[in-house]
Amino acid sequence: MSSASADLDGAVVLVTGAAGGIGAAVARRAADRGATPVLLDRDGAGAQDQADALSTGRGTPAVAITADVADEASVRSAVATALRRLGRIDAVAHCAGISGPVGSPLEQVLLADWQRVFAVNATGAYLTLKHTLAALRRSSRGAAVLVASDSAFVAAPGMVPYCASKAAVVQLARALSVETAGEVRVNAVCPSVVDTPMSRGDLDRGDFTGADYPVHRPEDIAEHVLFLVSPAAVGVHGTALAVDFGYSARSAFPA
Ligand SMILES: NC(=O)c1ccc[n+]([C@@H]2O[C@H](COP(=O)([O-])OP(=O)(O)OC[C@H]3O[C@@H](n4cnc5c(N)ncnc54)[C@H](O)[C@@H]3O)[C@@H](O)[C@H]2O)c1
Repeated sequence: MSSASADLDGAVVLVTGAAGGIGAAVARRAADRGATPVLLDRDGAGAQDQADALSTGRGTPAVAITADVADEASVRSAVATALRRLGRIDAVAHCAGISGPVGSPLEQVLLADWQRVFAVNATGAYLTLKHTLAALRRSSRGAAVLVASDSAFVAAPGMVPYCASKAAVVQLARALSVETAGEVRVNAVCPSVVDTPMSRGDLDRGDFTGADYPVHRPEDIAEHVLFLVSPAAVGVHGTALAVDFGYSARSAFPA
């Protein structure tokens, strides 16, 4: 570990959605920086596989916990397990999320699908923070990052539930950052397409070779998440970091 990457040395970082995609990359990069990740996912076997592959800071093994972020009892129990095993939580990276129906016009979106998207993406963020905030407040470097999406700000047709849920996640981060100012920094990261199982499924692609749009690597998004939870981001509260190759900055002016 280089000194430049030691900013998370010894920290306990709870990562939701850590069995794959962005969450798994966050857990890997956190371990590279000397942190001990807690990998929480409804796919417990996948989280355990990721944890087994990590060598963590100070030799403390990563912890994998099976939990559904949309279920309060499950989140409460997972956080209690993490605290029992590791004694504290210094940072939270909430990466668990689902796309819901992709390509369905709103009139065809089933209420159950709408509710599930909000349950995982928005309620999941609320429950994860609700049950980790006390521990984050006890930490001298308490910070949380919610992985939202550029879909909080811009939209493609056929993804209304997802876009609305991600806008809720951004405002959750902003509102909570006001409430926890001086104790816990809360921010959001808003990427455009990232090469993960989610995007490959949504876009029906085996990979992104030859794509005529830019695609992030999960490792790069992990770096943005870890910057925001690290002490290097002191003073950064309530921001929604757009990571979209500048697409949302483009005006309609024909130049
Ligand atoms: N991939 C993209 O293009 C992209 C772009 C912008 C934002 N995002 C967001 O990034 C986050 C991570 O997405 P990803 O692309 O890595 O997706 P992914 O599907 O590859 O990984 C998501 C992980 O979350 C877990 N998960 C889903 N529902 C859960 C629940 N109820 N409880 C616990 N775990 C649950 C899954 O098991 C999986 O391991 C999501 O919030 C997603 O909306 C993704």
